[in-house]
Amino acid sequence: MTDEPDETDENKTRKNGLYGGVSAELAANMKEGWADTERRHLQPITQAPHTARRRAALSALFPGELLVIPAGNPKVRSNDTNYPFRPSSDYVYLTGDQSQDAVLVLEPREAGGHQALAYLLPRSDRESGEFWLDYHGELWDGRRNSLTENERLLGLPCRDVRTLPRRLAEASGPVRLLCGYDAEAEAALSDRVTTERNIEFRAALSELRLVKDEFEIEDLRHACRATARGFEDVVAVLGTDTPTPERVVEGTFWMRARIEGNDVGYASVCAAGSHATTLHWVRNDGEARPGDLLLLDAGVESRDLYTADITRTLPVDGRFTPVQRQVYDAVYAAQSAGIAAVGPGAKYRDFHHAAQRVLTEHLAAWGLFGGRSVDEAYELGLFRRWTLAGTGHMLGLDVHDCAKARTELYVDGTLAAGMVLTVEPGLYFQPDDLTVPEEFRGIGVRIEDDILVTEDGNENLSAALPRSADDVEAWMARLRS
Ligand code: GLY
Ligand code: MN
Ligand code: MN
Repeated sequence: MTDEPDETDENKTRKNGLYGGVSAELAANMKEGWADTERRHLQPITQAPHTARRRAALSALFPGELLVIPAGNPKVRSNDTNYPFRPSSDYVYLTGDQSQDAVLVLEPREAGGHQALAYLLPRSDRESGEFWLDYHGELWDGRRNSLTENERLLGLPCRDVRTLPRRLAEASGPVRLLCGYDAEAEAALSDRVTTERNIEFRAALSELRLVKDEFEIEDLRHACRATARGFEDVVAVLGTDTPTPERVVEGTFWMRARIEGNDVGYASVCAAGSHATTLHWVRNDGEARPGDLLLLDAGVESRDLYTADITRTLPVDGRFTPVQRQVYDAVYAAQSAGIAAVGPGAKYRDFHHAAQRVLTEHLAAWGLFGGRSVDEAYELGLFRRWTLAGTGHMLGLDVHDCAKARTELYVDGTLAAGMVLTVEPGLYFQPDDLTVPEEFRGIGVRIEDDILVTEDGNENLSAALPRSADDVEAWMARLRS
C-alpha cells in the first residue's frame, strides 16, 4: 500500500494524527494476537481488612459528605522523563494500593455510611492503539492490573478513573478533597470545596494515622530490621585506614533499601566529620576518614511504604576518641531519658523535655552557659544553639508522619498505645563556633530510634542496632572480625 490518502476510515484516522506515521497495516497488526492474561484467582492483599476498617473510621467522621482522596500523578523530571512515582500516603493508607493517577472516592449512602470506590486506570486499550502508541502505554511502562483484578486485590469496587471528572461534576452535596495531588480532581470540584473544609479533612486524615494498627506495626518492624541490615552493610564498606566517600555510604545503604524495601524513606544523611553538624546534610559529597565520626541517618521504606528513621553516629575506625565519647555519652544519656519518658498517658512533649534537660545539664557542666544555672539556661532555651532540633516526631507512612494533625492531638496531645515515634536528641558543635572548646568544634552526634508506645510502656523497634558507645564499638568490631 502507498501513502496515497484515500477515504477509508483507517486513513481518516491516520490523517487526524492518531497513528502518527504508523502504517494502517502495522496499526491493525498491533491490535491482534495477544493472549488473555486476566488473572482470575487473585486473593485480597493482606492489608485489605485493615484498609476497610480505616475507611470505615474515616466514613464515620464525615457522614453525608463526598470524600475524595487522590493518589496523585507522576511528576515530570525533564521533558518526557518522570520522577519515580510515590502515591499520597493517605491514599495508600485507605486502599493499600500504589497506582498512579488513582483516586479513592467515598460516596455517601442514603442509608448512612459511604460506598468506597477506587477510580483507577484500566488496562490500556489495544483497539485504539493506546497500548503501544501512548508513550506511557502498557507496552512501554509495563502491565497494569485490570479493574476486576484490582477489585479482587483491594476488596472494593473499581471504576475507570477517566470517568471521574464527570462523576465529580455531577455530584451534589458537601464535598471534601485531599488537595495538592490531582489537578484534574481539583478543577472538577473547584467551585464546591473550600480551603477551610479541606484543611479539616487533611487534619482528620493525619489524625486517623496517629495510632497504628497491627499491620502497620509489623511493617514498621520490618522496615527497622531492614534498616539495621543496611547499617551493617555500611560498616562493612567503611575503610579503617583509607577514606570512604559519603556517596559510597549512601549507595550501600540504598542498595539494601531497594533489595528489601521500596526505596529509602527520605534522603539519607551520610555526614562525616563536621558535616554531621549540618542537620540536613544530603549532598553526601565528602569522605569519612579514620578518626572521624560518621553520622548516618537513614531508613528503609518497606514495599508497603512504611519507613524506618534511624540514626547512628559511628567512629569510622571503630573507636571513639575521648572527646567524641564525651559528647556521645551526653547524647546517649539524653536519649535514654527521652525513651524512658515514652509511654501511654504521657504527654507528647515529655520525652522532648526529658532529653533536652539532660543535654542542658551536660552543656552546663562543660561551662557553656557561663555562670547561668541549668534552670536558667533551660528556661531561656540557650541549649538550642547546640541541640538545634526537636527531639522526635511521629513515624509511619511518612517519615514525619501525621504532620497535619491538630496541635492539641499531636504536640500538645497525649501518647497512646500503638503510636510510633522517633526519639533523636543530638549535639552539634559547628566547626566555626568560638563559644565552645576547640576540641568540640566540628563534632556532631545524634542517636535516633523508633519507639512503639505499648500498653505498659514502650518498645524500641530499632533495638537491633547498638546505642551505647561501648556497644557500638563492640558491634563494629564484631562486624569487621
Ligand atoms: N531523617 C529525618 C529525621 O530524622 O527527622
Ligand atoms: Mn527523625
Ligand atoms: Mn532521622
